[in-house]
Formats: sequence, structure tokens, C-alpha cells
Amino acid sequence: MINVGIIGFGTVGTGTARILLENSDVIEEKTGIRINLHSIADLDIERDRGLKVPPGILTREVSDILDNPDVDVVVELIGGIQPAKDFILRALNNGKHVVTANKALLATDGGEIFEAAGRNSVSVGIEAAVAGGIPIIKVLKEGLVANRILSIYGIINGTSNFILTKMTEDGIDFSDALSEAQVLGYAEANPALDIEGFDSAHKLTIISSLSFGIPLSYDKVHIEGITMLTPQDIAFAGELGYKIKLLAIAKAVNGEVELRVHPTMIPESYLISKVDGVLNAVYVVGDAVGETLYYGRGAGDMPTGSAVVSDIVDIARDIKNKGASRCGTGFIGKRSDLTIKAIGDIESMYYFRFTALDRPGVLSRISGILGDHNIGIAAVIQKGRQAGAAVPLVVLTHRARERDVQKALQEIDRLDVVADKTAFIRVEGEEVQGLND
Ligand code: HSE
Repeated sequence: MINVGIIGFGTVGTGTARILLENSDVIEEKTGIRINLHSIADLDIERDRGLKVPPGILTREVSDILDNPDVDVVVELIGGIQPAKDFILRALNNGKHVVTANKALLATDGGEIFEAAGRNSVSVGIEAAVAGGIPIIKVLKEGLVANRILSIYGIINGTSNFILTKMTEDGIDFSDALSEAQVLGYAEANPALDIEGFDSAHKLTIISSLSFGIPLSYDKVHIEGITMLTPQDIAFAGELGYKIKLLAIAKAVNGEVELRVHPTMIPESYLISKVDGVLNAVYVVGDAVGETLYYGRGAGDMPTGSAVVSDIVDIARDIKNKGASRCGTGFIGKRSDLTIKAIGDIESMYYFRFTALDRPGVLSRISGILGDHNIGIAAVIQKGRQAGAAVPLVVLTHRARERDVQKALQEIDRLDVVADKTAFIRVEGEEVQGLND
């Protein structure tokens, strides 16, 4: 029998406890191991979570779990950096295995945690930290272990995806869509983590390290959120045959890795652009397997609990078999030869929305500057004649270098015929047949 102590009786803690209480029989049938919910620690042990737990397992004292010799696996589900980090290190130093859903902590302090686990010969299970119920950690560490991973594209923040879906379907503003997400309880306690792209970047940090062997590199991820997107850009993207998604992208390109989170236009025909609402998806390309796609619930009590329990079961199997760890660091930090590309060095296609005065010659001035910076135009949309007034002028480009794009936009935004800062969105997919092709 393996004894599990959970720290944090919130949404995921409740889901994990429910699964352990309701599914331990089937897990035992599958694995031959009894997983026992030994204890749950939380500051609030009075609140009704809609779950009947056996008497005597709730405690307000984390030491009842962290320092209890009977507990084999500590599950950390309080989130945030501290005191979660101290609890995890204390558990590891006490010789206990740890399972955590704490993506922010792993992305920033994972190195120290894995080092402590190694020193104490115990495991750290992290499946629940990325994309909730989608077993993407297992996919990268086990299912696709035979591959060199070439690229990953993830919709890995359900809140942002819900907001973008609402803006697309209902034509509403960002702030109205965010309010709906908050009412429905999807957003993190601090919604900036979701809408500014930080949560996606935490998750990308973890899966890119597992995929490419780079150290956990959160501070090198280029991060842009969705707060600047307008229903107008979403509508123009639709007219051009694209959906806008907050994508987390990791690509290996010529000995370098691109790590970036930003709103991205994806062709409507791609499967991943059909991933709507709070759902998550991760598209992984391996050199042997080719393209693969994983889809499911990226948050919530039971989906995330499902991932937590899968790690507990893996650790239980290791304990039973006295075997090597299935959880833990995998490929993280094993390679030092790959550098992370600066955002200025990436190449992409781009969508620009200029706010230009409706005067003769404006398009040629703008396209002249784009041409000077080696940026080819693939499509143009201009609507709404209002002589002398500012109107949106939309341009889709061929593949261009980001540094050139930034310089061109700075020049264009200084033109007297341009009335506002230009909106730009990076575009994925096949090159569009161009005006000059
Ligand atoms: N706030 C996160 C999301 C929860 O919206 O996906 C899961 O990490």
C-alpha cells in the first residue's frame, strides 16, 4: 500500500481526493497496488467541498504530512512559489516522493527541486503542471522518446482560449470576454497569468526542456498576451481564412530553439484552430512519428486530478518494482549546445493593421517601407472609404525577419499619414500566394 498526503484542498486537491477515494479499486485492479489517501492538509478544513472524506484525514498542519514517516508521496496543490517551494523541498529532503501541478514553481525553480530530488533518490511527478488532463509529459518522455522533437505548438491556457473563442463567436471586446471567464471561474486568481501569456510560458518552459533537453529557460521565453487583440483583428483574420489563438511555440531551428508565446493567426483548416473554449491542445512534431495532436481539458478538478493520480501510480509502481523513476527530470537540462533564439532573429509571416489616412499614395508609401526592409506583401484589405479620415489597412506578408519587421513598423508609425500604432500578429501556416508571385 502506498500512502498519499495532499497539501491544498482546493479545486485540484478535491478532484485528486475524489479520484483516489472513488477509483482506488480500479487502479488496484490495473496495477496490483493499493493507493491510500492518508491525509489532506489545508488551512480551511471546514468548508464543504461536496466530497465526503473518511474521518481523521483532514489536518491544518502540513507537518502531519511532510514529517510523517507513514506518508510515501506528498502531493503539492497549493500553487504559487512560496510556501509551496519550501514544502516540496522539505518533503524531498525527508525522502518522500512529490507530485505537483505547480507550473510557475517548476518553470522558475524546477532546477533546484529536481536537484533535491536527485540528491534524495526520490521522484517529482509533474504531469499535472502542463495541459491538465492531457498526458503530454508522458507523451514527451515515453511515447515519443524515440524521436528528435522538431516543434511543439500548444494552446495551453484554457482561459485565454475561452476569451478568444468568445471574442470570435460573439464579436465582443476583450474585457467583456474576460469578465465572462471570471464569472465562470476559469481564470487564475491573478488573471494576468492567463491573459498576459505567463501561464502558457510556464508550461512551455517545462515541455520545451523535456523535448529539447535545454535547461528550464522561463526567462528566455518571448511572451505576449492577448489583451491588445480587438474584435476587428479577429474579423479581418477570419476574412483572410485564419483563426487567432494564443500559441505557445517551441521549435528547433538550425541548432537553436525558438521559445515564444503570442497571439498567432492559424489557417482555419488546421485541426488546432478548431480547439475552442477552455479546451487545450498540443501539436508535437517528431522526426520519426511526424505530426501528432493531443486534445483535452487543460484545467479543472477531475482532469487535473487525473494527471496527478497518474503520477502517484507511476511512483507507486516504481516503489513496488524498486525500479528506475518514471517521474522526474527526463531530458531536462541534458543538452548545453542549444541556444535560445532572440525574438529579433525569428522568421514568420505577419498580419499588419495600419491605421492610415484614406489619401492617394498612402499604400505605396507603406509598401515602399516594407519593401526597403525585405518584407514582401501577400495580401491587402482596405475597407470603408472615408476621404481624409483614418481607415484600417490590412496587409498579410510573406516570411520576413522579425527585426526587419520591427524596424519597418517603427518607420511606418512615424508617417504623417498613419494615425495610430500599427497592430501586428504573427502568422503560421503555408506561405500565401503573393501579389507579386
Ligand atoms: N488558468 C489555467 C488555464 C489553469 O486557464 O488554463 C490551468 O493551468
